[in-house]
Amino acid sequence: MDISLKLLLLCLTAAVFVTRTAGSEQQGRIVCYFTDWSIYRPGLGSYGVENIPADLCTHLIYTFIGVNATSWEVMILDSWMDVDEGTYLKFTELRQTYPNLTMQVAVGGWNEGGLKYSQMVAVAERRQSFISSLVKFMKQYGFQGFDLDWEYPGDTDRNGTSADKENVLTFVQELREAFDDEDSDWEITMAVPMVESKLEAGYSVPGLCEVLDAVHVMSYDLRTAADGFADVHSPLYRRNHDKGAYLKLNVHDGLALWEEMGCPANKLVVGVPFYGRTFTLDNDNKNYSMGTPINTTVGGGDPGVYTRERGFLAYYEICTAVQNASNGWTVQWDDQGMVPYTYKDTQWVGYENEKSVQIKMDFIKEKGYAGAMTWAIDMDDFHGLCGEKNALLHILHNNMNNYTVPQTTAK
Ligand SMILES: *[C@@H]1O[C@H](CO)[C@@H](O)[C@H](O)[C@H]1NC(C)=O
Ligand SMILES: *[C@@H]1O[C@H](CO)[C@@H](O)[C@H](O)[C@H]1NC(C)=O
Ligand SMILES: *[C@@H]1O[C@H](CO)[C@@H](O)[C@H](O)[C@H]1NC(C)=O
Ligand SMILES: *[C@@H]1O[C@H](CO)[C@@H](O)[C@H](O)[C@H]1NC(C)=O
Ligand SMILES: *[C@@H]1O[C@H](CO)[C@@H](O)[C@H](O)[C@H]1NC(C)=O
Ligand SMILES: *[C@@H]1O[C@H](CO)[C@@H](O)[C@H](O)[C@H]1NC(C)=O
Ligand SMILES: *[C@@H]1O[C@H](CO)[C@@H](O)[C@H](O)[C@H]1NC(C)=O
Repeated sequence: MDISLKLLLLCLTAAVFVTRTAGSEQQGRIVCYFTDWSIYRPGLGSYGVENIPADLCTHLIYTFIGVNATSWEVMILDSWMDVDEGTYLKFTELRQTYPNLTMQVAVGGWNEGGLKYSQMVAVAERRQSFISSLVKFMKQYGFQGFDLDWEYPGDTDRNGTSADKENVLTFVQELREAFDDEDSDWEITMAVPMVESKLEAGYSVPGLCEVLDAVHVMSYDLRTAADGFADVHSPLYRRNHDKGAYLKLNVHDGLALWEEMGCPANKLVVGVPFYGRTFTLDNDNKNYSMGTPINTTVGGGDPGVYTRERGFLAYYEICTAVQNASNGWTVQWDDQGMVPYTYKDTQWVGYENEKSVQIKMDFIKEKGYAGAMTWAIDMDDFHGLCGEKNALLHILHNNMNNYTVPQTTAK
């Protein structure tokens, strides 16, 4: 082949990689995670595809599929719900009514562990098995995007290795080539942590941000019962009582870290939890300040009636409790972290409300980030028990709907 032709081809290939920035008029993303197990919640808590307010999202993500560690193909995790009950198809059919939606499927999640992912990305044949089965899966069920939720590459506490960092980048690059062969509009995103040690261990930030359409920063769960004290899990800024390892564990500093490590602001999507992290205090502890010690035997707060898991409450479980003062909950505002918390007897809850979510939207626009993501839409007040239906998601929509993401390059 003629040298200049080779060069031209080389430039064209490079251009494909570099131009993963959307057109100049990129609207703020509203990324809505949907969990297929929320339908099993009792009574009012049960949430199916028919409850999804698809008009309020730009991206809807179905969670989760897994990896089969024998065939290295996509693994369906709840074949009764996902396939027999037709939930995948009901989900992707939303796009017929809302053609501006991107329907994504996520692989991974906490319960999938890390080992299989580390083993999959380590071997070229396994990556190819996974990628070709994924492409087939997406065509079969009508998805236009993929979200990688491996928690976390390079995390030795979860069976990661030091080779993960390079291997996961290779995997995402190969996936991009495969998607471009199918349909150049298919998106690739990744749900990522914001702790410096985790980023250094497993994330080649500039390379990933170049090839991904968007990066979903999991800027929540920054404090849980495992820390031994009660605190809000998604503070926007550093507070006076944050010390040591907690100094940079806030939304602002986590997003700034991604930028410092080489990710352009217009690829970064800020996570907003539609749930609270809860704690149980000792019986005689009447100090309800953030950072107060907890009853470490019990740890998390009492399970919710609908979500039924210790340490965690959906927004609709919290707003119904606090809205009537006669229920006995005291609501406080952290005016440094810009987040609410509430307590009653031995129970302590750090969460998000309409005010804190609005402040996070202002932050996203001020910083020129790519949009907002929520975990998860099934924990919003979707029945309107405390006021407007889907009150928190409406705030995301009202703010991102008419926000144009500024074009930026990495710092
Ligand atoms: C997508 O379009 C539908 C109708 O065409 C509209 O109702 C919806 O609000 C749009 N979605 C967003 C996120 O703007
Ligand atoms: C994983 O793949 C193997 C080999 O194809 C197959 O026999 C097995 O049933 C799969 N496991 C699951 C859980 O799908
Ligand atoms: C790590 O590997 C061990 C042994 O194979 C397994 O039991 C454990 O579940 C794995 N943990 C994660 C988080 O992958
Ligand atoms: C911690 O909780 C356990 C279980 O409810 C209770 O038995 C114990 O008394 C509590 N400890 C304190 C110091 O309150
Ligand atoms: C309450 O707990 C916080 C956090 O541990 C502590 O800083 C504060 O001094 C305590 N207040 C009282 C009155 O003991
Ligand atoms: C608040 O709770 C009290 C006692 O349960 C009840 O009588 C009252 O109607 C409730 N108020 C509202 C506004 O729900
Ligand atoms: C965006 O819409 C909201 C209400 O939906 C409005 O308050 C705000 O002024 C609008 N912003 C711009 C930049 O048009």
